[in-house]
Amino acid sequence: MTAGDLSRPWETLSSGFEEARAREDSLDRLVEWPAERALLGTVTDLAVLDAGCGNGAKVAQLAEEGAVEAVGVDISGNFMTVESHVELIQGDLSDLRAVPGLAGRRFDRVLFLQSFGYARDPILALRAAREMLTEDGFILLTRTQPVRYAIERAENNGTSLGEEYFATEAFDYRHANWDERVTLTKKPYTMSDLLNTFSAAGLWIETAVEPQMTPESAERYPHKQAVMNKYLGIIMFKLRPLPTR
Ligand SMILES: C[S@@+](CC[C@H](N)C(=O)[O-])C[C@H]1O[C@@H](n2cnc3c(N)ncnc32)[C@H](O)[C@@H]1O
Repeated sequence: MTAGDLSRPWETLSSGFEEARAREDSLDRLVEWPAERALLGTVTDLAVLDAGCGNGAKVAQLAEEGAVEAVGVDISGNFMTVESHVELIQGDLSDLRAVPGLAGRRFDRVLFLQSFGYARDPILALRAAREMLTEDGFILLTRTQPVRYAIERAENNGTSLGEEYFATEAFDYRHANWDERVTLTKKPYTMSDLLNTFSAAGLWIETAVEPQMTPESAERYPHKQAVMNKYLGIIMFKLRPLPTR
């Protein structure tokens, strides 16, 4: 792998990620997307912005379900072919106001689905998204349960859960199901870090959800229920702007 590839891991990783996501037993299909979709509610006549949209499949579905504006932004630029009213833009979610074509626009829903961790400055990224919301708008943000990486690293490093959960040093991470050649650098985070980030960005949590597999899916895909039992899955937040004083 060249240095250029390393500095732009998602240009290489995105196809492996999308292949893994498309499998019938992917946790995105079984748990995450159904729960994200449910928390989002109806999108008819709404303007939706999906930050870190992957190939754009989710925002394209929202357009089919009635969203009048459906915009996806992703750094990889590895997009599927979509209907003309879906806009997929190669750009950085770290400051959505600076993405080409987005300055001055407003959205009823801004999504960060398993993408927020890649923002350069998490508070700035959320403040920028907050500024783009319409009056009744909200942000839907999902993140891997913070304890998940701590469990894995404690096992790999022969350390304890607490040592890894409260660690502050960035660590290298490879996802076996995506593309093991690509290393992502991740910064550990705790639940307090997440909650404090939302507060600092001027947001309050209307709802938090920790989605689980249905009993039917658990029976059909016991290996995925085992992953959920070990690592807990993701946590999702519906975030609204705090009233300005
Ligand atoms: C784990 S995937 C999630 C994709 C999609 N949101 C989903 O729920 O399936 C993370 C996505 O974030 C994108 N990404 C990573 N860093 C980014 C950045 N700085 N700006 C925009 N997108 C980014 C990646 O290319 C990838 O598509």
